[in-house]
Amino acid sequence: MKHLIVAVTGVMLAAGPAWAQTSGPAGNAENGKKLYAQVGCYQCHGLAGQGARMTGPRVSRTEFPFDGFLYQLRHPANQMPPYEAAVVSDQEAADLYAYLRQMPAPRDPNGIPLLKTER
Ligand code: HEC
Repeated sequence: MKHLIVAVTGVMLAAGPAWAQTSGPAGNAENGKKLYAQVGCYQCHGLAGQGARMTGPRVSRTEFPFDGFLYQLRHPANQMPPYEAAVVSDQEAADLYAYLRQMPAPRDPNGIPLLKTER
C-alpha cells in the first residue's frame, strides 16, 4: 500500500507542472477588465477580484491554469452561474484570465502603519 501511495504521488508530481502551467490563448487584459464589469464577475468577486465570504472567492491573480479557469466558467463547481460560449467566448475568457492574472498582489498589512502588528 505504501508503495502504491508513493507511486501515485510520483505520478501526480510528474503531472504537476502541466496542471500548474497557466498558459492558454493570449488574452487582452484591457478588454478583460471591461468584460469583468460587463458580464458581472465583479458583483460576486469584487472590483479588485478580492472576493467576499458571502458571494465568491478571491480571483485576483488566480492560480488556476487557463483550462481550469475556462472549465469553472462553463461548468461552475457550485453556486456560480455558468457562462456559456454565447455569453463569454473562449477568446473573451482568455481576456478575463489575462486581466485577473495581472492584478496587483494584495498589500502586506505590515506595510500599512495603522495595521502593523507588534511582534
Ligand atoms: C453570482 C455570483 C458569481 C458571479 C456573477 C461570478 N462568480 Fe465566479 N464564483 C462564484 C462562486 C460562489 C464561486 C465558488 C465556486 C462555485 O460556486 O462554483 C466562484 C468561483 C470562481 C472561480 C474559482 C475560484 C477558486 O479559487 O476556486 C473563478 C476563477 C471565477 N469564479 C471566476 C469568475 C469570472 C471570471 C466571472 C465572470 C465571468 C465570475 N466568476 C462570475 C460566484 C460568482
